Amino acid sequence: MTTSFPDDFLWGCATAAYQIEGSPLADGAGASIWQRFSHDPRLMAAKGETGDIACDHYHRMADDVAMMKEMGLKAYRFSAAWGRVLPDGIGRVNEAGLGFYERLVDTLLANGIEPLCTLYHWDLPAALDDKGGWLNRDSAEWFAEYGRTMFERLDGRVKKWVTLNEPWVITDGGYLHGALAPGHKNVFEAPIASRNLMRAHGAAVKAYREVGKHEIGLVVNLEPKYAASESPDDKAATARATAYMNRQYLDPAIHGKCPAELAEVFGEAWVDWSAEDLALAKQKIDFVGVNYYTRNVTRADPTNWPLAANMVRQPLATYTTTDWEVFPRGLTDVLLWVKDNYGDPAIYITENGAAFFDPPVAEQGRIEDPLRVSYLRHHIAAVGKAIEQGADVRGYMLWSLLDNLEWSLGYSKRFGIVHVNFGTQERTLKDSAKFYREVIATNGACLS
Ligand code: BGC
Ligand code: BGC
Repeated sequence: MTTSFPDDFLWGCATAAYQIEGSPLADGAGASIWQRFSHDPRLMAAKGETGDIACDHYHRMADDVAMMKEMGLKAYRFSAAWGRVLPDGIGRVNEAGLGFYERLVDTLLANGIEPLCTLYHWDLPAALDDKGGWLNRDSAEWFAEYGRTMFERLDGRVKKWVTLNEPWVITDGGYLHGALAPGHKNVFEAPIASRNLMRAHGAAVKAYREVGKHEIGLVVNLEPKYAASESPDDKAATARATAYMNRQYLDPAIHGKCPAELAEVFGEAWVDWSAEDLALAKQKIDFVGVNYYTRNVTRADPTNWPLAANMVRQPLATYTTTDWEVFPRGLTDVLLWVKDNYGDPAIYITENGAAFFDPPVAEQGRIEDPLRVSYLRHHIAAVGKAIEQGADVRGYMLWSLLDNLEWSLGYSKRFGIVHVNFGTQERTLKDSAKFYREVIATNGACLS
């Protein structure tokens, strides 16, 4: 049996703090914008579903790590909740909260699992939101202070760090369309938040170079855009959509400039970045983290504000329960696109996975999830194809370990390869978890 994956390929799973931990205010933690958003029925789509309990991972961490070991995971990507570590976002350090992440990291290492820590997976401390959150230029210093606190305590035990998870989702969901915390709908705010996020990313990387000795990167969600036709309008729409979603953050971080199309997309809300802001955003990073879920066939659509582009549904395709087209080849394409456009960086797939309908309760200890198994089989094979064509992909973090709070959509969208019964907190390995265990054990050879 042959495999395209290097011997030291990092097979893992990913999660995020607010989606799994529960007890968001325990042991002196400060509230986050997600605490506020999920408790506000005007904002939260899945009303009444919050991260108050989630997967209760905060209390079940040791058992969850034991389960990861049983599945053979070599790595685990988690995020730290900023407000557990710094309840006010800056200033006072909360030892009890930081202690949770120290215990998590130590437990992972004791089980031979490499930790990857994401500093920011969307749960801004509410105390900082009260000061304007990502709209405040001081956010770069706030974030660097939080990063430094984490690096000083954990670098060495954690050798791979991520600054931000998906700045595009943070601004598009949080500041433009309002579906995610803090729930603003303001086209003038989105470009400001984007710029401050990238300044914060740069400031955290700079802090890391002073304190840390290992690797740090940025995670972006990439959705390759394919023009629906050869018409100039559709091609221009595709270029806009690519600039908006796929290049908006990577271009400043790696090339030190912003895509020209953004001025067109944002119109009078766009403000050019100063040379100083561009210089701060562009710091040498050690890897690019790619989150891939789906692709987009794009056509011009003047009614869709502000992009004036829309997606074309594919009548013959399979869609997940989050209504995303299953398109494995897009993952190969997007990895090669990153290689070709951003200087052949080291890449980790930091998320890939799918929500499909699974029963809320396991029957006789089993959850059959053939659609997810098929999704994973074809997407992991697509990673192998990109490696064969020269992309420097070093690991794959499946989203997600556990069924969890799918943000504003609540608990009904199940992404886990481990089923969670939210009444009892019982965990059951789905068929996809057993499949993934086999992929890991054979280093991908079982796919061919
Ligand atoms: C959704 C997010 C999701 C992301 C994944 C966005 O369109 O709003 O909730 O996490 O896509 O790429
Ligand atoms: C996010 C995850 C989310 C997943 C599925 C990504 O956009 O990083 O937090 O659960 O997609 O929507």
